[in-house]
Amino acid sequence: MISIEVFNIIVYVWIGIAVILFPIQLLITAPYGRHSKTTWGPMINNRLGWFIMEFPALFFFILFIFMGRGFPQFIILAALILWFIHYFHRSVIFPLRIHTKGKQMPVAIMLFALFFNLVNGTLNGYWFGYLSVGYAADWKIDFRFIAGVILFIIGFLINQYHDRLLIRLRKSSINGYKIPYGGLFKYVSCPNFLGEIIEWGGFALMTWCLPSFSFFVWTLANLIPRAIHHHRWYKQHFKDYPNKRKAVIPFIL
Ligand SMILES: NC(=O)c1ccc[n+]([C@@H]2O[C@H](COP(=O)([O-])OP(=O)(O)OC[C@H]3O[C@@H](n4cnc5c(N)ncnc54)[C@H](OP(=O)(O)O)[C@@H]3O)[C@@H](O)[C@H]2O)c1
Repeated sequence: MISIEVFNIIVYVWIGIAVILFPIQLLITAPYGRHSKTTWGPMINNRLGWFIMEFPALFFFILFIFMGRGFPQFIILAALILWFIHYFHRSVIFPLRIHTKGKQMPVAIMLFALFFNLVNGTLNGYWFGYLSVGYAADWKIDFRFIAGVILFIIGFLINQYHDRLLIRLRKSSINGYKIPYGGLFKYVSCPNFLGEIIEWGGFALMTWCLPSFSFFVWTLANLIPRAIHHHRWYKQHFKDYPNKRKAVIPFIL
């Protein structure tokens, strides 16, 4: 088992990598989905890619908690349940629901995301399984825990609802794109990303620890640049795109 001091250094380095990647991801669009490119080497089926790259986050988080701690106490159990709900959906249900028939993503992108999910699932799982001293009995009535859980649930619902609206746009035009309307699309081009950011911000708040904070930073570093690229793409491809819409943060960005 590694010490908390060494573990914290690893997480600070991990956060540093996300901070460095943020401007890089603003310059280079991750080539999957509408930005997919065949110039990034071998390709893999889109749905299979989603499963392979997301499943490690589910697996390693749960594995390390049960290996290290056995059955967890209430707060860590709550974190585990919320993590499970998100990642079971993202790795198993989401790939089955998306309408991306015949579409592929670069293996390089899948491997990058797989590496991210492996490290992220391991750091968070290892923390809760081996290093965390647990939470005081009154943490469940602490403002941070209650607000964090509420934010996670709100973020999850926003993410799910808008992912669903996007997926439904596909029914009539296979692999084509349309301007999305409804819900928070009135304000931003990527409300699904906004929901995901709120979700992991809530998770960091409710668990109040360095690894969950690192996940929040990574979510910002991944999704804000992607939202900006999506927003630009919509404006380039649709002349009638609503001009008051922002990319991801209503009225601001
Ligand atoms: N935590 C993180 O770091 C992280 C990182 C990446 C993604 N995610 C999450 O993973 C989920 C999927 O990410 P994503 O980047 O693939 O989201 P996305 O680009 O918004 O696409 C979501 C789905 O809807 C389809 N779609 C999107 N816009 C459409 C339109 N205008 N018309 C028709 N279909 C449309 C996409 O098809 P195409 O694939 O064919 O474009 C895809 O199947 C999101 O919920 C996101 O929050 C999280």
